[in-house]
Amino acid sequence: MAVIAIDGPAGAGKSTVAKLVAEATGLPYLDTGAMYRCVALLSTRTGIDSSNESGVAAIAESIDITFKGVQCWMNGEDVSQEIRSAEIASIVSIIAAQSPVRTAMRTQQQRWIQQQGGGVVEGRDIGTVVFPNAELKVFLTASPEERASRRVDQSGGDLKEIAFNIAERDRIDSERVDSPLRPASDAVMVDSTGLSITEVVDVIVDHFTHSLEKRHG
Ligand code: CDP
Repeated sequence: MAVIAIDGPAGAGKSTVAKLVAEATGLPYLDTGAMYRCVALLSTRTGIDSSNESGVAAIAESIDITFKGVQCWMNGEDVSQEIRSAEIASIVSIIAAQSPVRTAMRTQQQRWIQQQGGGVVEGRDIGTVVFPNAELKVFLTASPEERASRRVDQSGGDLKEIAFNIAERDRIDSERVDSPLRPASDAVMVDSTGLSITEVVDVIVDHFTHSLEKRHG
């Protein structure tokens, strides 16, 4: 079971890069951030405040999340667009810091990869907690300025507001007690500032190929 774990802060380009690495290697792609965003969306829709830990936990334990290619479906509905809203971005890290939510999502992620027989998995705790034995672990970063401006190019919005949201999410994600955002000790660090997407993808695919060659001789 080959897993490529790609972790890193918000807006580092994980989704774009992970999808292309999945295409290049033939491995399925899993966006774990979308799963936390689904829990945030359903909480909002059902009027459960992000601080209501037992209410949010009940949602995380019963929610049905599936992926159809790059589309994300929640309880039978395509929510790929809706989970990217500014409203969801502003609460998702508060929800993702809660242990019962993480336990429920982690179980689903491990089951999904087991069923698929491997995958390119992107998130915050993939190399450290979810798949500690991944074939390759990458920690993808970029300067805060570049991350904010990439996000504006991708989805629009006000640069200052987006930069604030990204910084705030990074702070909550890094300071939480349960699986904080940090590089695994054996992760390959890739700073994508000033690099093209193709350059980043090539670096990761090369590392993966070398790792497989080393293992299989
Ligand atoms: O795409 P972007 O980097 O903006 O964020 P995302 O990958 O969609 O993740 C949204 C949020 O979900 C993150 O800010 C984390 O709070 C949380 N998350 C997490 O805690 N663990 C993961 N494995 C993935 C996401």
